[in-house]
Amino acid sequence: MKPFSQFFIFLVIVLATSYIDAFTRNDFPEDFLFGAATSAYQWEGAADEDGRTPSVWDTFSHSYDTGNGDVACDGYHQYKEDVKLMADMGLEAFRFSISWTRLIPNGRGPINPKGLLFYKNLIKELRSHGIEPHVTLYHYDLPQSLEDEYGGWINRKIIEDFTAFADVCFREFGDDVKLWTTINEATIFAIASYGEGLTPPGHCSPNKFINCSTGNSSTEPYLAAHNMLLAHASASKLYRLKYKSKQRGSIGLSIFAFGLSPYTNSKDDEIATQRAKDFLFGWMLKPLVFGDYPSEMKRTLGSRLPVFSEEESEQVKGSSDFVGIIHYTTFYVTNRASASNFPIMNQGFFKDMGVYMISTGNSSLFEWEATPWGLEGVLEHLKQSYNNPPIYILENGKPMKHDSMLQDTPRVEYIQGYIGAVLNAIKNGSDTRGYFVWSMIDVYELLSGYTTSFGMYYVNFSDPGRKRSPKLSASWYSGFLNGTID
Ligand code: NOJ
Repeated sequence: MKPFSQFFIFLVIVLATSYIDAFTRNDFPEDFLFGAATSAYQWEGAADEDGRTPSVWDTFSHSYDTGNGDVACDGYHQYKEDVKLMADMGLEAFRFSISWTRLIPNGRGPINPKGLLFYKNLIKELRSHGIEPHVTLYHYDLPQSLEDEYGGWINRKIIEDFTAFADVCFREFGDDVKLWTTINEATIFAIASYGEGLTPPGHCSPNKFINCSTGNSSTEPYLAAHNMLLAHASASKLYRLKYKSKQRGSIGLSIFAFGLSPYTNSKDDEIATQRAKDFLFGWMLKPLVFGDYPSEMKRTLGSRLPVFSEEESEQVKGSSDFVGIIHYTTFYVTNRASASNFPIMNQGFFKDMGVYMISTGNSSLFEWEATPWGLEGVLEHLKQSYNNPPIYILENGKPMKHDSMLQDTPRVEYIQGYIGAVLNAIKNGSDTRGYFVWSMIDVYELLSGYTTSFGMYYVNFSDPGRKRSPKLSASWYSGFLNGTID
């Protein structure tokens, strides 16, 4: 080869590698947890088997034509095979949720022995393969009976029922579970389920934008969120009093955390972005860390925002050992008063915030742009504004059209980019302790049924056996975890 060609090839390699920030599993602390996640309704199926009764998610999904979780991935019957896939992959942790109505049909009263056995077996199977279980107690699936009886999360009665459910879980599973999340993505759950009618139970504010069937007051998201904080704090108090000294686990709450970045470099947009951070992160984190809502929220919402009594504030403050983060993409934020109208995310909660949010990618629901810099921004913000709490990234992943195409290269790039962002954040002092890909395998999706999926394993939902096949992302993640790929 001529010297010039040799030099040219060398130059190309140097330039290419200088843009790829190579890192390996070993660059992370040894006790950092790399995992993947699912949730009960999205993975288990067996909806009316062995004593399980309907949750609001069953009711909600059966009223739309996007399919439902009646069979889903059939995880209830195939959990052993799935744990084997996880073990072969080298997964260190698995995040799943407990179906309240499988464990305690109708939400209150006697335990269902078959439900209890399923979760005991699942946890045992994980442990026997050296996989750490991370258990979410509540993932959108309120017992329908409690919704019918008193309106679920908008009634304070939920606090007692949720705490009793948590008590059973701690008592029965706590010797083998060290990581508990009480409520999944509490912020977006309050907005989407009690303001926008998008997710179960599908309540809407008057200024909702899609799908709403019931007209409720624009106070509901704030009321539901308030009760979530109180229910979380009550479960956490119980855990600490009754179980923690023996079981030695940690308990946290998870929030949905978009990256947020000013749309322009104007002062107005900078202030609007800070306000959006107060609303989206501070709504839960200010009470959890400092005992009260952000003053900006109190000022804007007035009597629509519930007030903590002194005793409640004390109980909520410090009730999370960690913060769970659900992160998928970043939005630009512009000040509502000084901008022209933007088509999406501009009603309800976004109106309350006084902002418009503009997508960093294509604006369609699942065209989420990979923005690792946005996650780094969230982690830096949490470090600076909330006393650097321990953090688990409980969900991060790339939605793609559900098909049998196993070469999901964009997903590999997405996950790799975000893992790099987590490493940068740790190097900058963030106390981030774990990262979970959403999702371990294709599952029934919250907003799109079976048309979009996030899984590292393809599931053939037309096959009665729900055959699983590894995608490129599964082998990439496995290689990363086993140290054969960076
Ligand atoms: C967050 C939710 O926790 C999960 O249920 C959902 O499937 C993913 N986001 C993707 O939409």
